[in-house]
Amino acid sequence: MIGKIEQLLQEVEAMEAANADELEALRIKYLSKKGAINELMADFRLVPAEQKKEVGMRLNELKNKAQEKIAALKERFENMDNGSEEMDLTRTAYPIELGTRHPLTIVKNEIIDIFARLGFSIAEGPEVEDDLHVFTKLNFAADHPARDMQDTFFIEQNEEDVTKNVILRTHTSSVQVRAMEHAEPPIRIICPGRVYRNEAISYRAHCFFHQIEGLYIDKNVSFTDLKQVLLLFAKEMFGEDTKIRLRPSYFPFTEPSAEMDISCNICGGKGCPFCKHTGWVEILGCGMVDPHVLEASGIDSKVYSGYAFGMGVERITNLKYQVKDLRMFSENDTRFLREFEAAY
Ligand code: PHE
Repeated sequence: MIGKIEQLLQEVEAMEAANADELEALRIKYLSKKGAINELMADFRLVPAEQKKEVGMRLNELKNKAQEKIAALKERFENMDNGSEEMDLTRTAYPIELGTRHPLTIVKNEIIDIFARLGFSIAEGPEVEDDLHVFTKLNFAADHPARDMQDTFFIEQNEEDVTKNVILRTHTSSVQVRAMEHAEPPIRIICPGRVYRNEAISYRAHCFFHQIEGLYIDKNVSFTDLKQVLLLFAKEMFGEDTKIRLRPSYFPFTEPSAEMDISCNICGGKGCPFCKHTGWVEILGCGMVDPHVLEASGIDSKVYSGYAFGMGVERITNLKYQVKDLRMFSENDTRFLREFEAAY
């Protein structure tokens, strides 16, 4: 009898159940009316009197142990999440949502890729700049309206000497100035980056936006080179059928200067509300670098010439994706950002 009890004790201690059904089967096997322990209890009357005390104690011990063990196993199931009987340990703990690239980043990368294939490298510079690099060395007269409080955010204003002003850059042409100061031609760079202008925020203007400006300085660089590069850019960006048109314009740092339109990529040039029925939309400013600008940064304008161009990334993105409200770009509304999931 003692031997049988010992054997059952061992079995009880080793009991394991993978689910509630298995646990119930164990309970029936050991603790039910017809279970192994009750059978032993029934045999108790056959135990010789002198052994009754010890066998009784051992039997009680066995019964308690079995009850405790079953209760412990049961508790383990109940503590499991949602009481499910099986746990998939390979499941991810939380669903991980993948982010998407910002539409401005997508378009910026696309523009950079096109110019990188043409041999342009990327140059970057500070967003907090001095007047010298944003205006003075770019041939802005001291009273040029672009220096006005209307457009420029001032960090430090110097009453006596405007060239000592510390400002937020209003265009990335400042990076081109820094490149001209430090590098010998040939210089072939594009300057992507955020720029700031003190404008009231509306659907068509923001106090910051993004630009990509380009600069090429070498011997014998001509307007034809500029036109060729910009035509290639327009075709790569907006499709093989895209036409370009250059209109005379004015920038202090280029002479001659032009603004470039592309044939409206929405109506194909036929005329639609987007291009105000003209068939053309403006996308960038450009021109031949003014000799004064070259000289101001130590480049001999008798030996070298160059072209420059600059475009707004928001503008190009609007044309590509018809985003009607500029503010969408900086509101971080995931419903908007998710629309660009498929783009690269
Ligand atoms: N810097 C000009 C702007 O911010 C763009 C530009 C760059 C125009 C280079 C001509 C040449 O609007």
